[in-house]
Amino acid sequence: MANKKAKMIVEKDFKVSEVDKRIYGSFVEHLGRCVYGGIYEPGHPEADENGFRKDVAQLVRELNVPLVRYPGGNFVSGYNWEDGVGPKENRPRRLELAWRTIETNEIGTNEFADWAKLVGAEVNMAVNLGTRGVDAARNLVEYCNHPSGTYYSDLRISHGYKEPHKIKTWCLGNEMDGPWQIGAKTATEYGRLANEAAKVMKLVDPSIELVACGSSSRTMPTFADWEATVLDHTYHNVEYISLHQYYGNRSNDIANYLASSLEMDDFIKSVISIADYIKSKKRSKKTINLSFDEWNVWYHSNDADRKIEPWSIAPPQLEDIYNFEDALLVGSMLITLLKNADRVKIACMAQLVNVIAPIMTENGGPAWKQTIFYPFMHTSTFGRGVVLNPIVSSPKYDSKDFTDVPVLDTTAVYNEENEELTIFAVNRDLEDTLLLEADIRNFDGYRVLEHIVLENDDLKQVNTATNQAVAPHTGGDAKNDNGHVTASLPKLSWNVIRLKKQ
Ligand code: AHR
Repeated sequence: MANKKAKMIVEKDFKVSEVDKRIYGSFVEHLGRCVYGGIYEPGHPEADENGFRKDVAQLVRELNVPLVRYPGGNFVSGYNWEDGVGPKENRPRRLELAWRTIETNEIGTNEFADWAKLVGAEVNMAVNLGTRGVDAARNLVEYCNHPSGTYYSDLRISHGYKEPHKIKTWCLGNEMDGPWQIGAKTATEYGRLANEAAKVMKLVDPSIELVACGSSSRTMPTFADWEATVLDHTYHNVEYISLHQYYGNRSNDIANYLASSLEMDDFIKSVISIADYIKSKKRSKKTINLSFDEWNVWYHSNDADRKIEPWSIAPPQLEDIYNFEDALLVGSMLITLLKNADRVKIACMAQLVNVIAPIMTENGGPAWKQTIFYPFMHTSTFGRGVVLNPIVSSPKYDSKDFTDVPVLDTTAVYNEENEELTIFAVNRDLEDTLLLEADIRNFDGYRVLEHIVLENDDLKQVNTATNQAVAPHTGGDAKNDNGHVTASLPKLSWNVIRLKKQ
């Protein structure tokens, strides 16, 4: 029996924005078993002729990932891209200082571009602004994007890649505010360098789009000043400012944990206001958008990682095993990105395989889906079109760090081309089913295609290679009676209500 109610009015003309498909991006770093033993494992029964695992590629395709950030992350700040191109037998083994491993350089720019093509994604390439700078960055753009007839484009051709990779989106370094970052910088040092790199990279290829590094998280002491200073320097030469944020249920407080997406929303709103402050200061007509290019849950593996011996190849680093409650928060984080689709144009779940990832592999064994795989797959698949701005009234609760947390976290996406309306919803209530009443007034003739539900009695339930204990079912009871949709949202559940015109 549902004893709580929430209402929403969904209007076709109340629009947030068209969804930029790149908000369903992901991230592959040379870290742990993400590349080696993740996307690439020559000798594995599922490996193709290039060593890429076909089972992993298939799961990536199921996730519908349109963009993948590469090659880091902290890794990129010590990386020489030249190490990873050309004949494999000549590629150096290096001490990888960000994660204290050995990098074999078996996979580099060209192999990764091949893999991205295989899974139907674009590459979002990061350049090293830690140990390197303008020169290495402009050479990499020339290597990747210039057609032919120059040193670096001809070098690429000599490496077997006649066609340029045409990489459109580039990150100007990674987390350059973080004291842990190789070559960390002050905001002024980074702002100057990023602007010069941006200017020169665009001289090589004016069609590229650039992401300047924002803060590594909202909790950084330099947050806000960092964004303002960096954008003051780079405003005319970049298109996006980055955000990174990870959450964890460290104090085992589920009500508070599930409210973390409100903090994510505040973070987004703060960065928008800083970007717009610099816009006003410069009297500019240009708007800087947001690239939330690292987000996820990350805390389960912290203790295990402290025990890893340095200087091994592809050790099991950052291998968070996600439980059911993590999938609920990830669902809310995706809803938050959608609600801000007017300014968040790129977002990358960090990461894709094995490293804080929706997809796991066993070396030599199967690939499998973590709990967080499902909300990502659902939003990426059905959350294409225009994000609507429904009017929602929901019961609320207070938690340790938040007040007025709506029990119902929801948004709706209208795909005009397919004549589909999808409502995404998390019921944050710990005890009760929530009866949702959605007035979809001007969606005449729409019927419920399916109501997908992810629920579980055990918040700590995880999936394994042999047991998909947390997996969605389509037994939700949503129905539409003349524009009046009702649905029972089980306590602590992720819901996808799909409607289509008859
Ligand atoms: O995604 C894992 C790491 O988190 C990345 O390398 C870094 O950018 C962030 O601190």
